[in-house]
Amino acid sequence: MSLFDVYPIYQITPVKASGAKVWDDKGQQYLDFYGGHGVISIGHSHPAYVTAIEEQVQKIGFYSNSIQNPLQEKVAKQLAQLSGYTDYSLFLCNSGAEANENALKLASFHNGKSKVIAFHKSFHGRTSAAVATTDNPAIVAPVNAGHAVIFLPLNDSDALKAALQGGDITAVIIEGIQGVGGLDEGTTAFFQELQQLCHEHNVVLILDEIQSGYGRSGKFFAHQHHNIQPDIISVAKGMGNGFPIGGILISPKFKASHGLLGTTFGGNHLSCAAALAVLDTITNENLIANVIAQSAYLREKMAEIPQVKNIKGKGLMLGLEFDFEIAALRKQLIYEEFIFTGNASQKNLLRILPPLSITAKEIDQFTIGLQHALEELGL
Ligand SMILES: Cc1ncc(COP(=O)(O)O)c(C=O)c1O
Repeated sequence: MSLFDVYPIYQITPVKASGAKVWDDKGQQYLDFYGGHGVISIGHSHPAYVTAIEEQVQKIGFYSNSIQNPLQEKVAKQLAQLSGYTDYSLFLCNSGAEANENALKLASFHNGKSKVIAFHKSFHGRTSAAVATTDNPAIVAPVNAGHAVIFLPLNDSDALKAALQGGDITAVIIEGIQGVGGLDEGTTAFFQELQQLCHEHNVVLILDEIQSGYGRSGKFFAHQHHNIQPDIISVAKGMGNGFPIGGILISPKFKASHGLLGTTFGGNHLSCAAALAVLDTITNENLIANVIAQSAYLREKMAEIPQVKNIKGKGLMLGLEFDFEIAALRKQLIYEEFIFTGNASQKNLLRILPPLSITAKEIDQFTIGLQHALEELGL
């Protein structure tokens, strides 16, 4: 059997990783400034994470959600403490798309409406409602196209008001900071108006923090830069540092009932052990403070590179803007400088998503590699 060929693949086989370093099967070391698509939060193979998973699997790895699992309660408690959402409740699932799928479903159950507002260049995942709210027709199959979704320009409050006037809007879904789309984000004024308008129209505000959450922006959630409190917050990626886990944080205004949401694997013992190790490490190693400090340092270093025309994003969720397309540069960085970076639908943007534990020394190494790659390519 061959693999279904849906991924364009770089010819590299990682076999080992530690912190922000990855080694391939030939022993070549790489610097990871992409975190496997913004997933690696506390660093690859963090000792506390490895121990937590090892010890948990020795005891019990999985049982169904029809029995008690105190680890889920522990995740909810620690997540509440770190995020500040102490009166919200938590539903656990396995991935980002699934988190958004449940968020949209819960919104629609709650207010009985069915249309969704999303934004240009959004990415919310590949399952049915999540992909329908993703602004990329190429990945929306006819079977997903039945959802009524209105796409609006980001930061256009007149368009938002007009769409809400149309009625039957169940939810607005918006990323804390856009990832795949290219690091655009709502202004504080827009986020605050959005919250107010959702409230006035009985529309659920869903903040997709799957990529921008878990400290990546320099606050636990990116929307906390804007002083708002969404109704539902979706999380995944950094939550498990590579172990598949996702979830939604749910405002107390939603009423739970048995069977309303559900999953076989979501919140299993192993994934909770991973999630707890992440939360502990973010706290114990003061990683959000590290994000703020290293983000400032990275910006300082990038200012020394004239080809970097602008930096988008916050914390360690950044996009370096060039006045040329970055495909060749990214390839040069991987194959010649041994540095992983990412791309976006904005073709002149290099995406930077290192582990939250990145050091100044590693930023220096990245800067030298980037300068060298630009020089080699004559850019
Ligand atoms: C903002 C955002 N939402 C949702 C998703 C989907 O997450 P997953 O791939 O875990 O389903 C992603 C993944 O890139 C994302 O960046």
